Amino acid sequence: MSIIYNQTKHVFSIHTANSTYQMKVSEYGHLLHLYYGKKISDEDVSYLIPHVVRSHESNPAEVGEDRVYSLCAYPQEFSSNDAGDYRIPSIEIVNADGSYAFVGKYHSHKIYHGKYRLSSLPTLYAAEKENVETLEIILKDEITHISVKLLYGVFYDKDVITRAAILYNGSAKGIHLQRMMSASLDFMTSDFDLIGFFGHHYFERQTERHHLTHGIQELGSFRGVSGHFHNPSAIVCDRNTDEDQGNAYGFALMYSGNFVFDAEVDGYSQTRVAMGIHPKQFDYLVDKGECFEAPEVVMAYSGEGLAKLSHSYHDIFRQNACESRFVNERRPIVLNSWEPFHFSFDSEKLLSTAEISRQLGADMFVLDDGWFGARDHEKAGLGDWVANEKKLPGGIPVLARRIHDLGMSFGLWFEPEMVNEDSDLYRAHPDWCLQVPGRAPSRSRHQLCLDLSGPDVCDYLIKAVNQILDAGGVDYVKWDYNRYVCDVYSQYYPPERQGEIYHRYILGLYRILDGIVKTHPDILFEGCSGGGGRFDGAMLTYFPQIWCSDNTDAPSRLTIQYGTSFVYPVSTMGAHVSVCPNKKTGRTVPLKTRAVTAMHGTFGYELDPAKMNEQEREECAVYSEFYRKNEELIRSGDYYRLSSPYDESIYTAWQFVSKSGEESLVCVVTEDISIIDKNSYVRLRGLEGESLYKVEQTGQILSGAALINIGLLLPHTQPQYSAFVYSLKKL
Ligand code: DGJ
Repeated sequence: MSIIYNQTKHVFSIHTANSTYQMKVSEYGHLLHLYYGKKISDEDVSYLIPHVVRSHESNPAEVGEDRVYSLCAYPQEFSSNDAGDYRIPSIEIVNADGSYAFVGKYHSHKIYHGKYRLSSLPTLYAAEKENVETLEIILKDEITHISVKLLYGVFYDKDVITRAAILYNGSAKGIHLQRMMSASLDFMTSDFDLIGFFGHHYFERQTERHHLTHGIQELGSFRGVSGHFHNPSAIVCDRNTDEDQGNAYGFALMYSGNFVFDAEVDGYSQTRVAMGIHPKQFDYLVDKGECFEAPEVVMAYSGEGLAKLSHSYHDIFRQNACESRFVNERRPIVLNSWEPFHFSFDSEKLLSTAEISRQLGADMFVLDDGWFGARDHEKAGLGDWVANEKKLPGGIPVLARRIHDLGMSFGLWFEPEMVNEDSDLYRAHPDWCLQVPGRAPSRSRHQLCLDLSGPDVCDYLIKAVNQILDAGGVDYVKWDYNRYVCDVYSQYYPPERQGEIYHRYILGLYRILDGIVKTHPDILFEGCSGGGGRFDGAMLTYFPQIWCSDNTDAPSRLTIQYGTSFVYPVSTMGAHVSVCPNKKTGRTVPLKTRAVTAMHGTFGYELDPAKMNEQEREECAVYSEFYRKNEELIRSGDYYRLSSPYDESIYTAWQFVSKSGEESLVCVVTEDISIIDKNSYVRLRGLEGESLYKVEQTGQILSGAALINIGLLLPHTQPQYSAFVYSLKKL
């Protein structure tokens, strides 16, 4: 049993293999959060709350003359609003009478085997035989009869606890929900660092770590999409936590729209962390008798540093997010048409490219943007999901058949959520876009955003995309999304419901994905959003892989992939070899370095193989073969960051160790010319000190202890941006 309720002490203890999470119902019915951290027993640890008078704090009416009991000084599991807890609230409601008060008190609870699901939002799932339990606790406001069900999914073996919350309006009238966090977590202390992942297009998930100071620190997105600017994931850790040791708490939101991650250190140096839908322009009218579901947060804990925290996340996102069979299958090596051709191609060019790409070792040809409608440039055609017969006579089925005849599989690009004004779809339905009445809409990349809060827009998109897919021949879909949302107004809803549209867009998106992705189990779907602008846990329930960034420059990818790896597994990161000088950065690095860097993900090419010479094509064939040989290890092994691309280290290195411990792959890219004539060693992780390992590339036989404590000696006299790989076998 991982969830234990002590009836006498009213204490809930949730255990995973290495962690404990504890809550207690106070004598007045408030649910207090007591502890989250290294595993302890079921003993009641409420002694950690000091019972002192906090001057000026409010004391709830029911405590009478007791000046000690205060909602602000005590750690709360799901905080109240306008009742004396002045920290960032879990919830903000405008009740029917205009008041803002909400105080949830313990009402009941339920414990059962298996994992809860939400009806409107994607969540992690658990297989029947997995050691997973659910705890549901209902908190109820005794005055308004509004309740909140707190959900906990406990993945014992993976040290993961998921949380979500469902509001139920049991009052007699509709209420306005203006903030609803999925989870919040109170710590009694404050000496923490916060690690977040910021960036922009071409520069996703840059790692930033800083000490949490007094006040509120916020990460989030208000762009209608989880976004390039901040990823919906964050880590709170001790100041001395590093890859190998220290406490680390991870938070990853299973949501693809506006989100917020708040960390507040209050004047008593207590820390509150909260995560959920961004409250800006969020105003959800919950009618009497209706519910509102807040998306799931995946929390992981490690008492042994960041590598272990990442392993928990990698395991859970690989095994419990996406139910597609492709998650556990060898992924194709693709050649993608975007970087080489953009919009200018025809069938013959595509077919000759596909044919030559076989020499590189590619086994799938992906036709990116430009195959439909009048899509000869960014300004037209988006929304018209009908093949352009001038470019592709006979349409997709004919092209797909001819690609298949080459012995390759075939992939196709879509951007269903968008429309150009110069398109048949827009001409037929100009009112299907998000658009504020009386205002000209803002364009981005010359496109507008379809209003996915509208049921007929969703129905149309499901039909239009499925029509192409059902005609057969498509083995893979790249689902793109290339602008942020604004002009958020929907003709489908009355004025008092316009604060719901950001969220309703996301609900519409999930409905479309259910109707397209889940009805095509034999197609591999890859997510994309101007590179990696929508890289989140919810997307990973649909897409086994997501295009990591439009920046394919190998040195730039080192920081992007490094940051992504803290929470998301390498098996989910799309990574391709492209031409040099790189089209974005102008940088030239050796082909091997580009290939080794692209092996930190689902490997492929994004270049014109006809422009390569014979020697380069042969070299690529070697890399493809090497990737294929190591694909399973890369996809399913334990991943270790051996160095940080931000450190002064002269190289960036990473390592995969198979779950059996029998095999390992080490990849190194040098970043500094001081590698020349300097002795450099790469220390490994995840090996057994006592065991011996054979290093295939050097022929050495070395002990795990030597490899961990001394490391592999890198070759001398190598230019900047050289790459090395080392394959280890346990003897
Ligand atoms: C943005 C994607 O990230 C690219 O890979 C490519 O698919 C373009 N969109 C096509 O418009």
